[in-house]
Amino acid sequence: MRTTIIAGNWKMNTTVSEAMALVKAMRNKLEAINGVEKVLCPPFVSLTAVRELILNSSLKLGAQNMHFEEKGAYTGEVSPLMLAGLCQYVVLGHSERRQYFGESDEIVNKKVQAALKVGLKPIICVGEKLEEREKGLMEEVITRQVKGALASVPSLERVVVAYEPIWAIGTGRAATGEQANDTISIIRHEMGRLYGAAQADMVPIQYGGSVTGANVAEFLCQKEIDGALVGGASLKADEFIAIVEQTAAVKGKK
Ligand code: PGA
Repeated sequence: MRTTIIAGNWKMNTTVSEAMALVKAMRNKLEAINGVEKVLCPPFVSLTAVRELILNSSLKLGAQNMHFEEKGAYTGEVSPLMLAGLCQYVVLGHSERRQYFGESDEIVNKKVQAALKVGLKPIICVGEKLEEREKGLMEEVITRQVKGALASVPSLERVVVAYEPIWAIGTGRAATGEQANDTISIIRHEMGRLYGAAQADMVPIQYGGSVTGANVAEFLCQKEIDGALVGGASLKADEFIAIVEQTAAVKGKK
């Protein structure tokens, strides 16, 4: 049995007071939903405030990025050690990091290793561009990203993966449940090749890209899909609650 995880990636949105208001608007309703791991990933500056608000709940906290070094002269960066005391999860290798901040598979890999070393659960994002899918390169790109992110990682324990096709992020054009399931099968197969099926079968793999309350069930009812990484819809309390409710309902039937 794999953990079902719904994570809200707030990206570069919300001031500290807006973040606190958003948590207060969702906290109790999210807490009442069982069987789903709920993770909030606010901006760095709001981690402490959000942490205080969810302290005695089952809600978990995640960061959206981090540096791979534990400390040092890296002005403006946030280290794994700083996050380890604050949150449980960290999103790594998001396509926006890869695209706008030049994060290569090697950098993502260093971050994954650093996160695991301090006890954080990395949510490793992989996904192909539209032209890569159209050229028939999806499988090659995805397996390269998975293999790259996991290089020298001794086991898949605590690893979470999010499959986010870039063409589906923030576009309102989600993949179909079947497309996502097919690609996630490729991801699991590649992890099985690297670590054996028993380990690969334990890794929660999320889908991400224009997930809403209206379409989340289409993904979660698929065999290989264990949750969602939600961007835009995680900034609206009612929508995020609906996503988690739908997930719990589908999971109950699975
Ligand atoms: P979206 O973003 O839900 O707004 O498409 C998903 C993500 O980038 O994690």
